[in-house]
Amino acid sequence: MERVSLLLRALAGDRPDRPPVWFMRQAGRSLPEYRDLRVGTRMLDACLTPELAAEITLQPVRRHRVDAGIFFSDIVVPLRLAGVEVEIVPGRGPVFAQPVRTASDVARLTAIDPAEVAAAAEPVREAVRLVVAELGDTPLIGFAGAPFTLAAYLVEGGPSKEHLRARALMHADPGSWHALAGWLARVSAAFLAAQTEAGAVAVQLFDSWAGSLSVADYRAHVAPHSRAVLAAVSVPRIHFGVGTGHLLADMRLDGRPGAPVADAVGVDWRTPLDEAAAVLGPDVTVQGNIDPALLQAPWPVLERHVRDVIARGRAARAHILNLGHGVPPETDPAVLTRIVELAHGTSA
Ligand code: CP3
Repeated sequence: MERVSLLLRALAGDRPDRPPVWFMRQAGRSLPEYRDLRVGTRMLDACLTPELAAEITLQPVRRHRVDAGIFFSDIVVPLRLAGVEVEIVPGRGPVFAQPVRTASDVARLTAIDPAEVAAAAEPVREAVRLVVAELGDTPLIGFAGAPFTLAAYLVEGGPSKEHLRARALMHADPGSWHALAGWLARVSAAFLAAQTEAGAVAVQLFDSWAGSLSVADYRAHVAPHSRAVLAAVSVPRIHFGVGTGHLLADMRLDGRPGAPVADAVGVDWRTPLDEAAAVLGPDVTVQGNIDPALLQAPWPVLERHVRDVIARGRAARAHILNLGHGVPPETDPAVLTRIVELAHGTSA
């Protein structure tokens, strides 16, 4: 019988003896082997070079022995594949040559057929095939950015704190907002399809900045588009955001007749997992939520925190151990390895 991974068991609501563990941003600057490999290559070029993207994806799996790989790429890669001029500026984030702010900006962008992303995504499919061939029994998670988080960058033209321009557009010109978010949903769905066709067995939708939205705006202007992305996917789905304590129930993205479209909801460090589980109910797995700040704390303090996260996770139908947000670049990677060993029950 084929061995079903702990990750897929947890996503199906089964409770393995121990929670599977992986880390958002497990690949990247916390690893010296990543910093070596990236010298002289721009971020988005690295994402679209199959051998490089595959090797970077595999680095943290080899080093930490996490229970899943996450494909090395970025949420703006499908926009680059659609022909949008975007760069990732080190220390800053995605920056667009032309912000998308007016009705005519939106019309120009959404005239691009999302099928172009599928056609241009061969480097993504090739990188995923290379990764899956090396991973053996370890599952690979694919990912994409949710329409609101992508729009938060596109409408501003770059990173922002409160995402004021994207949130204003929803109200100032709802028609343009829905056209933009609907197009972004199709673009992210095409990016996810490229990854699942090539062997990713689960996906995570990052709506990192959804926490800046009111419940009313989330329901009216955002959730339908995120639901469309995940409804188009054929594998189990994780839905993640930061500062989303007030949105957790909505992040299940219930379709009709009330069944959640998300198999798991990622929770940041602000909401204890037992409280999140009470809100999410018995049909959803929780993922999270080690406080990234505590990666800097003395080990006994961090260990107590990780054990508390695992204990609170038992309140949910199943739990995937992770951080509450990505690995900070300055993290000592040995600390991450130690968390994996603790979760695996192999620590002294
Ligand atoms: O988790 C993983 O290991 C997979 C790879 C991954 C990256 N970006 C690689 C990356 C994933 C899942 C992402 C998603 C992503 N990208 C999100 C959602 C997740 C989140 O953190 O909330 C967002 C908001 C982005 C946009 C983005 N890309 C930002 C804000 C930055 C940081 C800019 C900086 O220099 O601080 C990036 C760049 C980026 N994406 C890096 C990595 C490894 C760093 C690039 C570098 O090495 O210089």
